[in-house]
Amino acid sequence: MKILTIMGGPRKGYGAICMEKFEKELKFLQEVEFEYLYLKDVNLNSCRGCCNCFFKGEDKCPVGNDDRNEIFNKMDQADGVIFMAPIYALHVPALMKNFFDRFSYIFHRPYFFGKIAIGICNQGISGAKRVTSYFNDVASSWGFNFVNELKLSTIPYTGVEKKMVKKIRKSCKTLINALNGPRYQKPSLGDVLGFRVRKLLHNIARDETNADYKYWFEQGWLNGDKKYYYDVRIGIGKRIIAGLLNLILKPKFKVLFAEDPKQMYTKYLKLESLNFESL
Ligand SMILES: Cc1cc2nc3c(=O)[nH]c(=O)nc-3n(C[C@H](O)[C@H](O)[C@H](O)COP(=O)(O)O)c2cc1C
Repeated sequence: MKILTIMGGPRKGYGAICMEKFEKELKFLQEVEFEYLYLKDVNLNSCRGCCNCFFKGEDKCPVGNDDRNEIFNKMDQADGVIFMAPIYALHVPALMKNFFDRFSYIFHRPYFFGKIAIGICNQGISGAKRVTSYFNDVASSWGFNFVNELKLSTIPYTGVEKKMVKKIRKSCKTLINALNGPRYQKPSLGDVLGFRVRKLLHNIARDETNADYKYWFEQGWLNGDKKYYYDVRIGIGKRIIAGLLNLILKPKFKVLFAEDPKQMYTKYLKLESLNFESL
């Protein structure tokens, strides 16, 4: 079993000390391969905001030759990924944010189904809740089965370690159980609706040259009978609500995306799709 821990802080600090304890506790439960990926040590250039990855494909990213593909491969080879960062200025450090920015195309083309993820954040006083919840949002959108948020406080008060160890052990247990259990979670109503809305959008704003469309088509997600990204039983209630939403949104999307989608995307990429002159 392989675990990859993506370390989002700019130094090997308290976060690293906590993670090493986490690794030890995890290995006490089960022998696993545990790898650290320090974002401070890799070459991951800043996103330039061109949106090429969304529309043309991630291979058309103009940022150039850096470690993005290797990082992707490491996540792909892992059974579980831990997203870990300290709180800086109420949120994730810039390195972690850039990591998410550079892989933003995965929000459009979710990939990591069948893999487990957890999020860990070490704070001084506050902010960890926001960040672990953010990790949950990102990882779930990328397809991971996100199973745990671990929030640690590194203020040096007496007995802080004891409190932390308790939480770390609990989190390790959750991670191990998830890795050994069924990897594909049952989607919530929100997950099912999210899938159906995106499917509808791709089917209406159809552009065979668009990277998102191609990916969704190749995965078979645009097929009429496809109810979710992967085969899973979806309850009748969720199916009815999703069907109704589909019926309501279909005519609205037809109006909103009446223009040729290829032209629309081309204009968008050239910053020409917003024009307030006549208003
Ligand atoms: C630039 C900077 C900004 C910080 N901002 C916050 C903050 O907004 N909230 C907080 O609780 N702690 C904040 N901290 C404290 C760190 O989250 C805390 O010390 C953490 O344990 C550092 O982890 P590290 O040693 O792995 O870098 C900040 C620390 C730094 C260096």
